[in-house]
Amino acid sequence: MESMEQLNQSQVSEFVSLGLTNSQDIQFLLFALFSVIYVLTVSGNLLIVVTVFYIPNLHTPMYFLLGNLSFVDMTLASFATPKMIVNLVKKQKIISFAGCFTQIFLLHLLGGAEMVLLVFMAYDRYVAICKPLHYMAIMNKKVCVLLIVTSWFLGLLHAGLQIPFVVNLPFCGPNTVESIFCDLPLVTKLACIDTYIVEIVIVANSGMISLSCFSILLISYSVILITIRSHSSTGQSKAHATLTAYITVVIIFFGPCIFIYIWPFSNHSVDKFLAVFYTIVTPILNPIIYTLRNKEMKTAINKLWNAFVTSREDS
Ligand SMILES: *[C@@H]1O[C@H](CO)[C@@H](O)[C@H](O)[C@H]1NC(C)=O
Repeated sequence: MESMEQLNQSQVSEFVSLGLTNSQDIQFLLFALFSVIYVLTVSGNLLIVVTVFYIPNLHTPMYFLLGNLSFVDMTLASFATPKMIVNLVKKQKIISFAGCFTQIFLLHLLGGAEMVLLVFMAYDRYVAICKPLHYMAIMNKKVCVLLIVTSWFLGLLHAGLQIPFVVNLPFCGPNTVESIFCDLPLVTKLACIDTYIVEIVIVANSGMISLSCFSILLISYSVILITIRSHSSTGQSKAHATLTAYITVVIIFFGPCIFIYIWPFSNHSVDKFLAVFYTIVTPILNPIIYTLRNKEMKTAINKLWNAFVTSREDS
């Protein structure tokens, strides 16, 4: 009883994150599956970053944005996933207090930057398709750099504006996060005071950024689709297929985010499964959908590969 009281008053120094299931076999299966996906995600995105960097044909606004998106995806996949994968097969799934909040901060920094970047990529396509004559003038080098800097800045602002509210809450146990990694709503629920105001801050901030980026994306893609329909040309079906793929990514990425952050505190047991989408599924979808189905990109990767092979034969 005494130790119970002590526990109640002291700040917890670590969190325990539960896995997705209690079954050992399924945990091992997920361990294998997530490890493979993780390796593919990092190598796929790295390949895109390197290709965009080295192949001059790809030095255009669209590919600069794609390269930067791949970089964000690579980091988004790398900060929580490795520990989460290891935790799947460990008995003690412990994460330190600082580690937990670092995960939350990075998730929101990178997730926010990614959302804003997706909006800018839609803007880029909008200008290219709806204002083709002014494309080079509007999307000049300065604007590209500005868009990249803005996406990081908004990501930072988004993360920086909500972490201070949560990190200073009293956490006196229990310390079990019901997810595979530290997620803001789930950690907030563990605080031992009434967190109503903090919850409102989180919904207002995370909910609004997800919802507004999502709406802007849907509207701009609809405008683009309507424009393509009315200017029938030979490139129509290709542009159509590309846009459908873009919209798929947008829905898969934003769907879970909006679900988790608009109704974040209503004890959804599905939240931990949805979290898998934005940490594991989206980072690998982007290289598949945005780039590897793209002919220009495939040609560039071949070129890079040939240059690599030739340079090795020469030396
Ligand atoms: C990111 O965007 C900047 C600005 O357009 C560009 O110079 C840089 O090469 C891009 N980075 C990658 C990895 O594509």
